[in-house]
Amino acid sequence: MTAEPASARSATRYDAEVLASLEADAAQIRSRYPDPRSGLLPMLHLVQSVDGYVSRDGILFCAEQLELTPAEVSAVATFYTQYKRHPNGTYTVGVCTNTLCAVMGGDAIFDELSDHLGVGHDETTEDGAITLERVECNAACDFAPVVMVNWEFFDNQTPETATDLTDRLRAGEDVAPTRGAAKVCSFKHVSRVLAGFDDGRAGEGVGAGEPSLAGLRLARAAEAVDSGPEGAGDSGPRQDDGPTTSAGQDGAAEVAPETGGEQSSAEREPVAPEDDEPGRSPSSGAVNPEPEKEGQDD
Ligand code: FES
Repeated sequence: MTAEPASARSATRYDAEVLASLEADAAQIRSRYPDPRSGLLPMLHLVQSVDGYVSRDGILFCAEQLELTPAEVSAVATFYTQYKRHPNGTYTVGVCTNTLCAVMGGDAIFDELSDHLGVGHDETTEDGAITLERVECNAACDFAPVVMVNWEFFDNQTPETATDLTDRLRAGEDVAPTRGAAKVCSFKHVSRVLAGFDDGRAGEGVGAGEPSLAGLRLARAAEAVDSGPEGAGDSGPRQDDGPTTSAGQDGAAEVAPETGGEQSSAEREPVAPEDDEPGRSPSSGAVNPEPEKEGQDD
């Protein structure tokens, strides 16, 4: 008796070879979670790594693999902007137009790129190379204005550097981000990494740039002043200034922060009258009167 082909069990239109490969990867994703449906987010990245977006077949495949309905899968795929519902370019060029980047030139960069590429937000150039997007804050405000290419950082951009960047991408050149990996990879490649399949490049490059480290030094200097002459220079193991390591500057292992310390309002001991009397106003110290009920007699 011959085994039933994988394609016979699936409502998708993937050919047998692609489906068999997807099923093997999906089995790995499912095995990472006690409840298989928890694997939906990486599995959506997986189908993007094959189709270049979350296709109809990708939706059906995820639903079949995780015993969900196509509607449930679609609800998740349409919620997150990293999942694309139409074919994406080889490179997603995301211009941060959130507040800080916008005032530092992000809006001008987006407008220039839009003119240069002839596309608007969430549109792809005719050659299929670039999908242009406005993106929200990338937590890289100290490098504003920031452009992301397939979620790699390009810091301190200008309209000129950004157009040069897209020209080089369209010409097929290897392009290195400011921080992180040694070069930008394709959308499909990155999608597979986001699905949890390591490409061995996570440790490439530096993570923290000079503006972030300057902030760290200022914070340490302020801490030294606050703690006075006795505390200055004696605040225990610290994270190194360089790329993140598991050891501090002096080689000592980092100490995990304790939870439930004095910063935690949920954990702290009552110290003020209002802590024990919920009706007491913190500002006046007076106990707030019960609100009068409408129509209540004096
Ligand atoms: S506002 Fe652009 S990275 Fe934060």
